[in-house]
Amino acid sequence: MASGGLVELTQGAEAKIYRTVFLGIPAVVKLRISKPYRHPEYDRVFKYKRTFIEARVMAHLRSLGVRAPSVLYVDPDAGLIVMEYIDGCRLSECLSEMPVGRVAEIALDIGRQTSIMHANSIYHGDLTLANTLMSSKDEVYIIDFGLSGYSRDVEEYAIDVHLLDRSVELLYSELKNAFMDGFWKGYSINASANFVEKLKDKVRDVRLRGRYVEERLRRRVSKDRYA
Ligand SMILES: Nc1ncnc2c1ncn2[C@@H]1O[C@H](COP(=O)(O)OP(=O)(O)OP(=O)(O)O)[C@@H](O)[C@H]1O
Ligand SMILES: [Mg+2]
Repeated sequence: MASGGLVELTQGAEAKIYRTVFLGIPAVVKLRISKPYRHPEYDRVFKYKRTFIEARVMAHLRSLGVRAPSVLYVDPDAGLIVMEYIDGCRLSECLSEMPVGRVAEIALDIGRQTSIMHANSIYHGDLTLANTLMSSKDEVYIIDFGLSGYSRDVEEYAIDVHLLDRSVELLYSELKNAFMDGFWKGYSINASANFVEKLKDKVRDVRLRGRYVEERLRRRVSKDRYA
């Protein structure tokens, strides 16, 4: 399949990532791994569906001008995608090295790209700083579309924004305001003011419910501990 050898880059929660050269192009192989605790039939369907949706959404987003790696080859039965290799760093690792002004520009670009996704009924499903790459050409890429999907439900879009907001808060709390201001500025380039307000309300709603759920969990844990 690949014209170069395979060098393991990393192992994520669901997949092994290898570097290779495919048809002369620097590439990444994302191979979803089977989990022994899943029923084999469920495992097969799970791998197929996640692989299929990831490749489909990536290809669709590229056609809309969103920076996702281009898909070079896909085999859903094998749980395998070959995609363009993005030389760069994860924002979860390199955002803190940047001046605040640059952070705001990056966030604006993520906001702009996210609004194109949402305007086309696509949600990411795991939009965090770990799933955004800054390329060596200073361009922001969005990756890891295994949990993405198509929906017109604003709540799905609000979950994307909430997850991103939380990941900035957890990793770089001091950058959060600059980042989210930039994000909303970028989001508003193509989205109407009405829609942005509706989405902001939904994000607040999701955040409150998130806290409520976390609080209930915390209470249950302490109750178990002391019962
Ligand atoms: N196209 C790519 N170019 C460069 N690096 C990539 C590419 N795709 C994935 N990676 C690297 O591999 C890591 C894991 O990839 P990805 O997030 O798609 O898999 P995952 O199994 O869902 O991982 P996780 O559970 O860690 O989110 C990324 O964080 C990134 O460092
Ligand atoms: Mg990931």
